[in-house]
Amino acid sequence: MSAISVRNLNYELPEKRILHDISFDLESGEIVSIMGPSGSGKTTLLKLLTGLLRPTSGQIIVEGTDIAKLSETELDVVRLKMGLVFQYAALFDSLTVYDNILFSVVRHRKRVPREELDTIVRERLDAVGLGEVEWLMPSQLSGGMQKRVGLARALAMNPSFIFYDEPTSGLDPITAHTIDELIVETGRNRNVTSVVVSHHLPSVFRISDRVAMMYGGELVALSTPKELLASENKTVQAFLAPERESRQQRF
Ligand SMILES: Nc1ncnc2c1ncn2[C@@H]1O[C@H](COP(=O)(O)OP(=O)(O)OP(=O)(O)O)[C@@H](O)[C@H]1O
Ligand SMILES: [Mg+2]
Repeated sequence: MSAISVRNLNYELPEKRILHDISFDLESGEIVSIMGPSGSGKTTLLKLLTGLLRPTSGQIIVEGTDIAKLSETELDVVRLKMGLVFQYAALFDSLTVYDNILFSVVRHRKRVPREELDTIVRERLDAVGLGEVEWLMPSQLSGGMQKRVGLARALAMNPSFIFYDEPTSGLDPITAHTIDELIVETGRNRNVTSVVVSHHLPSVFRISDRVAMMYGGELVALSTPKELLASENKTVQAFLAPERESRQQRF
């Protein structure tokens, strides 16, 4: 069974078709990146996969359950398996790092002993390579540290899936590289199925088992990085031209 199976997914607004007839499967533990021009529907697809939006038609089967058919309460249960590291679902400014990381844990589990909460925070901060920042406020952290805390928060519930929307945007290349490494480590060490929307082609090619390309609301390719670089598809070729050129310069 695939971890996620999407079948003939459509998402339409009254005046506009946003996603058109998308089908694909994700295997457990794989890291799949989604690239494509601005407005091609990447964020919309992530929102559908995580149940934040409801499809117009089609199936989104998560570990055997079609989440498109679930009630909000049933969907909440499936969402517990999903970590979200979204660009704009940033940290809560008024909460400490400690309370940010535990936000979902405290909401979904009653009366967790204080020692266990402390352990969760400590373990997740270690996992993302951060020291003793739990009593700081988000505004006291750099952008890169905030992204790490966002990942620590996603890890707090031991998710089977993590969805990242542009996790390295706005970061310098070195910090972006460390976030890339964390995405891969998290995927490998915790067997997390990871979906990463990214505009940064070098990152996409470094971290992904497979790469999807969206264009005008359609999924035009989904294959290994190597296959994608060799693709004859004109849209894919045009989009990948900068990556191909930099590879030719490197070798
Ligand atoms: N609530 C909405 N109302 C109207 N149009 C919307 C809405 N949400 C998304 N769209 C449109 O859907 C299309 C896809 O948007 P989406 O945010 O998914 O693109 P994207 O690939 O994530 O782009 P970017 O790379 O800029 O983040 C765009 O044309 C956008 O204008
Ligand atoms: Mg987007």
